[in-house]
Amino acid sequence: MTSVDNDPIQTYAPLYEEYDYPIDDVTGELPAELRGTVYRNGPGKMEAGGTPLGHIFDGDGMLTMYSMADGKVHFRNRFIQTKHYQRSIVAEGAPFRALGTMRDGGLLANALRFPTSVANTAVVMSAGKLLALWEGGRPTELDPDTLRTKGEYDFDGELKWLGAFSAHPKWDWDTGEMFNFGMAMAPVPKLICYRVDRNGTMNKLGHVRLPGPMFNHDMGLTKRYLVFVIPPLVFPLKKFFGAAFGLLNYIDAIEYDASLGTTIALVPRDGGKPRIFHTDPMLHLHFANAYDDDNGDVVVDVLNYHATWEQLNGQLAGVETLMETSTMPFGGLPTRVRISGSGAVTIDEFSGVHGEFPMINVFKMARPNRYFYMSAATGGSLFPNALSKIDNDTGKETVFQFADGHLPHEAIFAARPGATDEDDGWLIGPVLDAVNNTANLSVFDAKDIEAGPVYVGRLRHHLPLSFHGCYTPRIAQPHSPAATR
Ligand SMILES: [Fe+2]
Repeated sequence: MTSVDNDPIQTYAPLYEEYDYPIDDVTGELPAELRGTVYRNGPGKMEAGGTPLGHIFDGDGMLTMYSMADGKVHFRNRFIQTKHYQRSIVAEGAPFRALGTMRDGGLLANALRFPTSVANTAVVMSAGKLLALWEGGRPTELDPDTLRTKGEYDFDGELKWLGAFSAHPKWDWDTGEMFNFGMAMAPVPKLICYRVDRNGTMNKLGHVRLPGPMFNHDMGLTKRYLVFVIPPLVFPLKKFFGAAFGLLNYIDAIEYDASLGTTIALVPRDGGKPRIFHTDPMLHLHFANAYDDDNGDVVVDVLNYHATWEQLNGQLAGVETLMETSTMPFGGLPTRVRISGSGAVTIDEFSGVHGEFPMINVFKMARPNRYFYMSAATGGSLFPNALSKIDNDTGKETVFQFADGHLPHEAIFAARPGATDEDDGWLIGPVLDAVNNTANLSVFDAKDIEAGPVYVGRLRHHLPLSFHGCYTPRIAQPHSPAATR
C-alpha cells in the first residue's frame, strides 16, 4: 500500500476492485444496539473507456455497504451495472455524453445526446426497494443483500420520458410517504413533484413552472408543503442549445444569475397550486430540514455559499481544478430561511463554520429539529476535516477535529432503538485516511461527538469520495441462501 502524506488527491482516486469481508482491524467497540445497514453511493471511478471524466458528477456509481450486527461490521462494495458502466469498461474513449464530459468525435458525436445515467448520487430504501438515485434520470434498483443491479426502476411506469427523479427525497415518518421531484428542462422547464406512499405507489402532485432551464438539487418537506428554494442557476438559452448541440458540456452551460434572486416555491402536499415568492440570491446545494413552526412560518435550513457558480463548480469539478483554482473553504454556511404566512422572507446564518452534507435525526424530517450535524471544514480547509453539531435551542456548536490528512464523508444518523432524545443515536460515516492511503468507518455517539469515535473499523483499501447514503435497521445478509439465489 502506498503511503502518501496528507495527499487529498486520493479523495478522487478510483477503486476498481470489489470487496466483501468482515472488518477486523478495529479500535473501540461497535455499540451492541447498533444493528442494521448503512449504504452509500458515490463516483467509484473517474474515467470511461480510458478517457478521464471532466467532472466528479460523471463518475460511475459504486455502492458501499456496511452491515452491522452483534458488534461486527461486514463491508461490501459493488459498481452499479448501468449501461454507462458496462460500456465504459470495454469501450475505447468515453462511450456516452455526461454532464461535464464530451464524447470523442466532436460535434457530431455529441449533438442531441443527453447525459447517460451513472446512478452515482444517493441511495435510499423505499417500500423495501434499494434505489440508487441520479437526478438526470430514473432510479436504479439493487438487491439490498448482494448489491446486484436489477435495472432501472420507473415506479410502474409513472416516471415518464427521461424519468428524472432527484437524489434528495424526503419522508414524512408519520405517514410513511416519500416526496421527491424531477427536473424537466424541455419542452417546458419545470420541477415535477411526486408522492410515493408506504407501499411504493407513486402519484404525481403537480409541478413548479420555471422561467427557463434551471438547476435545482434538493428540496424540503413540511406537514403542508414540498419546499423549493431555487438558486438562480440558469442555463441561458444560447448556452442550453449550445450544450444540446454539442458545442459545450452541460455543466459549463450553467450560470449563476444573481439578478434573478432566489425563487421559493411552496407546493401543497394535497396537490394544490404552488405559492411562489422571490428573495435575495443564494447559492446552495443541500437542505438540512424544513418544517412549519407554531406561527405558521415555513422554516428551511440550507448550506449557503457566498460564491459564484464558477467558484462552487471549481470545488466540484475534480481535485486538480480544486487545488489549482479554489480559494474558498469547503462547504457553505448553515443558513435559516423563514417564509411567513404573508410571504415575507428572512435569511439568517446560524453558524460561521463552513460545511456540507447536512444531517439530522431523520425522524425529525418535516418537524422542528433541535440538532444539526455536518461534515465541516475548519481553518479555511479546502476539504472537510471535522464533524460539527449545532444545538438550535442553545446555539452551542461542538466540533470534532480529525487528525491531519483525514477527510470525513457524509455522516449518517441512526437512532438508538427506543430513543426519546433527538440526539440519542450514532453518526456513522467513512473517513478517508490520506496519510496511509486507506479508509475507515467511524461511529460517533451523537450526544458527544467531541469525545471522538466510539468505533473505528479500518478497511483494507482506499475509498473514493462518496456523496450520500442511508441507514436502515434491516441487516443485509450478503451470503444468506436467499441473497445468493
Ligand atoms: Fe446532494
